Amino acid sequence: MQGVIKEAILKIEEISMHKPLRIISHFDTDGITSAAIFSRALQRWEKPFTLEIVKNINKEYLDALPEDHLLIFLDLASGSLNYLANKKTEVIILDHHEIVQDIPKNVTMINPQLQKTENCSSAAICYLFARELSEKNKDLANLAILGMVGDQMEKNLNKTYDNIMKDADTIIRKGLLLYPATRPLDKVLEYSSSLYIPDVTGSFKGVVELLREAGIEKTQKGYKSLVELSEEEMSNLTTAILIRRKTKTETSEIIGNIYLTKFFNNLEDARELSAMINACSRMGVSESALGFCLGNKAAKKDAEKTYLKYRQAISAALKSVSDIEKINGKNYTIINAKDRIKDTIIGTVASIISFSPLYPKGTIIIAMAYDNDKIKVSARLTGKEGRNVREILSQAVIPVSGEVGGHPNAAGAIIPIAKEQEFIQELQNKLDLDLIKI
Ligand code: C5P
Repeated sequence: MQGVIKEAILKIEEISMHKPLRIISHFDTDGITSAAIFSRALQRWEKPFTLEIVKNINKEYLDALPEDHLLIFLDLASGSLNYLANKKTEVIILDHHEIVQDIPKNVTMINPQLQKTENCSSAAICYLFARELSEKNKDLANLAILGMVGDQMEKNLNKTYDNIMKDADTIIRKGLLLYPATRPLDKVLEYSSSLYIPDVTGSFKGVVELLREAGIEKTQKGYKSLVELSEEEMSNLTTAILIRRKTKTETSEIIGNIYLTKFFNNLEDARELSAMINACSRMGVSESALGFCLGNKAAKKDAEKTYLKYRQAISAALKSVSDIEKINGKNYTIINAKDRIKDTIIGTVASIISFSPLYPKGTIIIAMAYDNDKIKVSARLTGKEGRNVREILSQAVIPVSGEVGGHPNAAGAIIPIAKEQEFIQELQNKLDLDLIKI
């Protein structure tokens, strides 16, 4: 990948003499951290630029982009190459998503899928770019760690990440995947949405009982944090949680690496910061997240406030899910929230429901929320195996002229609101048919 990174640097050097730079990045954690790394690197390189953070791109958006700029896409655009081929300007893409079209002549693509190098998230690619520019950019490595956990790439660590972690002085601890691992356990357990524990999540009494059972006592300073536990305490707590989850949860599902990295001079849990950045975008204030990543203290305060509001919004959305009338089929549930849940958080709500023991493994959850004249659809498979939700969703989305993508266990789509009923009908037909197949 180093070769193409060098090529992109030369291109920027040359084109920036006569054209302004326009950066467009995605609004999730990987996109925001990519934008922070890339823009700080350009700033140090003394290259002026404009930056825009977007939820998604489509033909209309790309058609409207000015052709008197050098266009640089971060964490997106690998799937939009045919549209970019029509642009009468040079384009540089730093991305890790799937490439399904030919690379047009005007596009320089830095993507591990193309260069056939180790897989990594866009923030890592931006970091390698920044590092190639200057040794000084080593201080941006911790942002690449946030991008990594934001895109859940930490389960398949490789040499690229080993090197980035060294640069970032990241500390890795093995433990329960509850975050933040750096805050007192009672609060973390009570408000955890990443790991649902029956009779504990949302119940202070349940939390105290669980901790007592695991032999973790409250001291004068309060409860310990996860990273302060001894090996024995961690093991006892894991067992107590597994017993409460009853379903056949594998230890490996709830245990993993905890990444501790420095921000604003404190050692922080990368998962927590990643969740906060993601929350800012979902609540419509990506600029706070970006400011936080760039070390702005006021932005940090705003981001923390927004994160709190986001958790309240998720909790309200989960409550409203129980009141929404659902379409329940055999092994599937369609939750049409209409305008009761924000389109930007419906995916998170669908994920939380799919991780909870509310539905048997193998159930497909489809959640829908209005977004002006469109509907955002998020599909999740509980238990992660056996059925392909992207395929099923595609079969219902394509006939109604929507856009769809994702993975076998988590997929998303956008459809026109005018096709709401037609889509639901189509989806039910496909879901019923899918069940016959298995
Ligand atoms: O949007 P949502 O969270 O439901 O998406 C689930 C997964 O599908 C994510 O990994 C997202 O990146 C992917 N996706 C995609 N193309 C779309 C919509 C979602 O690749 N058009």
